[in-house]
Formats: sequence, structure tokens, C-alpha cells
Amino acid sequence: MEYGQPSTGAPSAAIAAAHRVLDADAMGYWENPGLKERIAQSYADDHGVAISPDQVILTCGASPALVLALNTLFAPGARVAIARPGYVAYRNTLKALHIVPVELECGDAERFQLTAAALAALDPAPDGVIVASPANPTGTVIARAEMAAIAQVCARRNIRIVSDEIYHGISYVGPVDSMLRFAPDALVVNSFSKYFSMAGWRLGWLVVPPDLVEPARARMGNLFLTPPSLAQHAGLAAFDCCDELEGHVANYARNRELMLAALPGMGLNHIAPPDGAFYIYADVGHLTNDSLAFCKRLLEDTGIASAPGIDFDPVDGNRFIRFSFAVSTAEVEEAMARLGPWLNAHAEI
Ligand SMILES: Cc1ncc(COP(=O)(O)O)c(C=O)c1O
Repeated sequence: MEYGQPSTGAPSAAIAAAHRVLDADAMGYWENPGLKERIAQSYADDHGVAISPDQVILTCGASPALVLALNTLFAPGARVAIARPGYVAYRNTLKALHIVPVELECGDAERFQLTAAALAALDPAPDGVIVASPANPTGTVIARAEMAAIAQVCARRNIRIVSDEIYHGISYVGPVDSMLRFAPDALVVNSFSKYFSMAGWRLGWLVVPPDLVEPARARMGNLFLTPPSLAQHAGLAAFDCCDELEGHVANYARNRELMLAALPGMGLNHIAPPDGAFYIYADVGHLTNDSLAFCKRLLEDTGIASAPGIDFDPVDGNRFIRFSFAVSTAEVEEAMARLGPWLNAHAEI
């Protein structure tokens, strides 16, 4: 329950498509035009947003899409706001590109998410912001009105938005908005790693506004070239596998319910509301001041793997841990059965 990845494989039709092309395709550098069209169409279908397939850049997952977005938008020395807690690679990728992360503390009151008010109050205004809804490690979603307000503040203060929408499709509170609805010039990162259950296929995409297509494509061509052809064939087929993929989401929903029912009885009742994704970010501050040591001991004693909060929050993460429930329901049941007695036996670590 540590890694943020589905324990299921690629949908069966995607695997079948990969088998079909293996003997027939020379697997050269390639951008699948059908896949770009399908992705562009998904924004019209799901969000009522019209984008051209040219605005879609296929990447080897969300990770290079993030590098591409940040390198296209910002020069070294730029300042980019991120939520704390947040996905560890935001901070590290910004630093690797010599961009300065401006971490905004987001606690209970903000549902662990960035707010328009916090962005409006930053002085000086940052050059950019990375928004994530649903977020990692908390799973919290930014409500529609707040997202619109964030877009407004950013337009007014000239803050460029990078929206990481990698957990779209995995929501327990209804459809989640794309930032493109409110900020047509946002750069949107997405991937086949989560909803599509294809993490190791290394396929994702970046949506850029028309005026940034050329600079972003130039960077893609120099830094990464193209994602694997095999994955691009399979990814297109995966778009037609909704029944199987919705089955995974139903499984996550069951696991989430099980954990939300079990954890408070074990004293873990300070939990970020997991609106989406497949994580529970739980406060263990009454038990430890060292989440890394806590996770190690938990693993050694019970076999339950979890992620220490310090991965996501260098300031307050020492008192949080993250569980991923993208595993089988039987595994979640077993983990809950082992966790309760262990927490009882270990008052403090
Ligand atoms: C919020 C977030 N963004 C991006 C990524 C990177 O995903 P990938 O490169 O596999 O698409 C992850 C992976 O866990 C993530 O949680």
C-alpha cells in the first residue's frame, strides 16, 4: 500500500492491441494521430472544452510532461507556487530546472489544497502555480467555484497555471473539472498510469495552448523524442475499455469505504477527505514525530507498506503517513485486521 500505482494490469483490449501490432509495426519514432484526436475529443466530451489534436503532446507519462510544461513556461529563477503537502516530484523537478518552489502550507481549513485567497495574498505574485485535483497524497479535489476563482486570480496576476490532472477518472464525489474549463491557457498534464492502469507502459500527455505548441514540441523533440510506439497503440485501445476501468474505480471505492470505516476506530480519525485518487493521508502525530521510522516499524512488524508524510511535506509530514488503496479488497481487509492490534500495542514510536 505504499506505491501510488494500480495493482491491476493494462485493460485486456489494450494488451490485445499490443500483441496485434508487435509483429507488424517497425516501432519507429511515432506520434499516434488517432490517439491525439481521441485525447482532444475527451476534453470536449468530459469538460465541454474544444482543443485541437495539435495541442496534445504525447509523452512518456506525466513526469516528462511536467518537465516539458515547466521548461516551456519558465526560465531559471522563476518562482512557482505549490501546495504543501504535495507530490514530491513537483518540488524536486522545479529545483532540477532551477525554478524556485514557493510552498504554500495547506491544512485542514483548506482541505489540504491551494486556494485562490492564498494565491492572491502571495507577495510578490509567483510566475506560476502547479494545481493538482485530485491531489497526491491527500486525494482532495478543488471545488468548481474555487477552481474558477484560482483561474481568475491567476489571470489577474499573470500567474501561469500547470494543472496536473493525472487522477482524473478516479473520483468518489462525481466528475472533477479540468482547469481548461476556467483557464484556456493552462498547461494540463495527464497520464495513462492511474485511471488506465498502465503505469509501466510509460505514456501520458501534455495539453498546451496554441501559442506554445511549437516551443513545447521543440523541447519534446530534444529532450524525449516520442513515447513508446507499442504503448501508443495500446493506449488508444484503452480508451474503449471503460467497463473494465470503471470496475477498478469501483474496487477503489470499496477499499476507501472499508478504510474510512475502520481507521477512526483505531484512533486514526484525522484524515484528509479522500475525494479522489486512491490515497488516505492520515495524521499519526499522536503516535510519532518521525513518520519514516513509523512506516519502517509498521512494515517490519506487520508487512503493511505505507509512505511517510515527509515525502510530501518537509515541514509537517513527520506526523502523517499515506496509504494507497489501489490494491485488492482482500489486501485492504488483511491490512486493517493487522493494523488495529499493532496500533494498540505501539503507543509511541
Ligand atoms: C500527482 C502525480 N503526478 C505525476 C505522477 C507521475 O506519473 P507518471 O509519470 O507515471 O505518469 C504521479 C505518480 O505517482 C503523481 O502522483
